[in-house]
Amino acid sequence: MKFFVDTANLAQIKDAQALGVLDGVTTNPSLMAKEGIKGHDAIIKHYMDICDIVDGDVSAEVLSTEYEGMIKEGEELAALHKQIVVKVPATKAGIKAVKYLTAKKIKTNCTLVFSAGQALLAAKAGATYVSPFIGRLDDNSVDGIALIEQIVDMFNYYDFETQVLAASIRHTMHIIQCVEVGADVATCPLSAIEGLLKHPLTDIGLAQFVKDSQRMA
Ligand code: E4P
Repeated sequence: MKFFVDTANLAQIKDAQALGVLDGVTTNPSLMAKEGIKGHDAIIKHYMDICDIVDGDVSAEVLSTEYEGMIKEGEELAALHKQIVVKVPATKAGIKAVKYLTAKKIKTNCTLVFSAGQALLAAKAGATYVSPFIGRLDDNSVDGIALIEQIVDMFNYYDFETQVLAASIRHTMHIIQCVEVGADVATCPLSAIEGLLKHPLTDIGLAQFVKDSQRMA
């Protein structure tokens, strides 16, 4: 399973890259605004900075909600760098934009996916990734992991090449559950990735080894 880090914070992206297991980055307008990125030139520069740090795919979301605007922005973003994946919402205009951009050989990430039907249309339009939002479903008493499993099964059954990019991951256990149902990618906060390393027996065992190593000196 691939790991993407879900942030526009350059320090966190550098940290994740330094860990040596990072496969890409996802951003969205909320994450970009949180970093104080404002205006066209600053947005473009920030995406370029992210691409300089990581080796893998970098999702950059269109701001327009209309088809014409989406494809114009999408083509501009894709031309920035070969690592850019154009992120578009799972709306009628978004699905049409995925179809258009795919025909132009531009990679896409269909985002804000909350149902198998949205994922199906994104896959049929040729999306490189679909992003079902686990945490936001869980927040609304709907099982987010069950949706990931349903989409993974559907794509396997019909041999869709679209990858299931589990998004809105809130904690480490979500990552493990994504592994269990066969998600292709998990995009996570850095804290959730680092959480995979946490185990008290590792800490206790290491403390003992350090203590005993002094007897060997
Ligand atoms: C996905 O690409 C989104 O950026 C992200 O995972 C949304 O997560 P949130 O629900 O924590 O905002």
